[in-house]
Amino acid sequence: MLKDLFIGLSQNQLLNSAAKKYGLKLGAQSVVAGTNIEETIKTIKELNAHGISCTVDNLGEFVYKEEEATAAKNQILEVIQAIHENGVNAHISLKPSQLGLDIDYEFCLGNLKGIVEKANEYNIFINFDMEDHNRLDPSFKLLDELSKQYVNIGTVIQAYFFRAQEDLEKYKNYRLRIVKGAYKETEEYAYQDKKDIDENFIKLIEWHLLNGKFTSIATHDHVIINHVKQFVKEHAIPTDKFEFQMLYGFRKDMQLQLASEGYNFCTYVPFGDDWYGYFMRRLAERPQNLNLVVKQVFTK
Ligand code: FDA
Repeated sequence: MLKDLFIGLSQNQLLNSAAKKYGLKLGAQSVVAGTNIEETIKTIKELNAHGISCTVDNLGEFVYKEEEATAAKNQILEVIQAIHENGVNAHISLKPSQLGLDIDYEFCLGNLKGIVEKANEYNIFINFDMEDHNRLDPSFKLLDELSKQYVNIGTVIQAYFFRAQEDLEKYKNYRLRIVKGAYKETEEYAYQDKKDIDENFIKLIEWHLLNGKFTSIATHDHVIINHVKQFVKEHAIPTDKFEFQMLYGFRKDMQLQLASEGYNFCTYVPFGDDWYGYFMRRLAERPQNLNLVVKQVFTK
């Protein structure tokens, strides 16, 4: 299966390091905002001009050395500073593994605390992206620990997990992003059929729209988006209780359309030189994205 092939490639550390050296190639520039903060702020300003807010992800995977996690932390602190200084409408998405979760829990907690504290000073929200099953419990633990002191944090609920509803109810008073789930998970923990995942996704979104604090509905699936539009209308859910989110470079027309219809819309803007794993996961989700690669190769 192509999906398995791309997920496998996304986990290949050799290819990951090679990709870092050679810049944005293979079509990745269509879905990655740039390799530095300056380019990224420019992209954010363009999106803001269309009424679209942004969540910025400083790409990073396979962080097993403290100095790499510290470098990632410093880079995220610079992004927070740049968001503040440029007065743009943006917040941060980060992955605990990039900040050292696979090295040492306390070390990761310290890195995250530095980031959340700085963002809190500027009233900037920090989203903890959710990764694979093994990192789920430690990531929630980090969130629990930091929420004793800070409120500017939230996380992601992945609909493919059987436990998703339970997590959703536990964290209902957080700003939550609900997604289908991007990693390869076994049938011990997660639904495998697209139909089951889609059904659970809708169930979770509806529940959180009715009971939760603020819902980010993160999907490119127009069927689900249309369903949500109908649902919020029927239940008179105010537009300031939810937003739609999509990844940078995907379904641009629909992003602009939703924003122009008056919905809150937030684009997930990844940047940096560690784009390889992110890009391979996007190919796994939708092999048609290979068209992007082919186009980039032939239009150079
Ligand atoms: P899916 O890929 O299931 O597609 C459904 C249908 O939508 C397709 O059949 C097609 O009709 C249409 N469609 C989809 N993409 C299209 C395109 N580009 N052009 C035209 N039609 C298209 N995952 C995770 O595990 N942890 C996380 O923290 C996050 N964070 C996150 C943030 C944001 C903003 C987004 C959008 C997604 C994530 N994800 C994630 C990824 C998520 O879990 C999921 O893997 C992808 O969004 C793909 O699923 P979709 O719901 O987009 O539709």
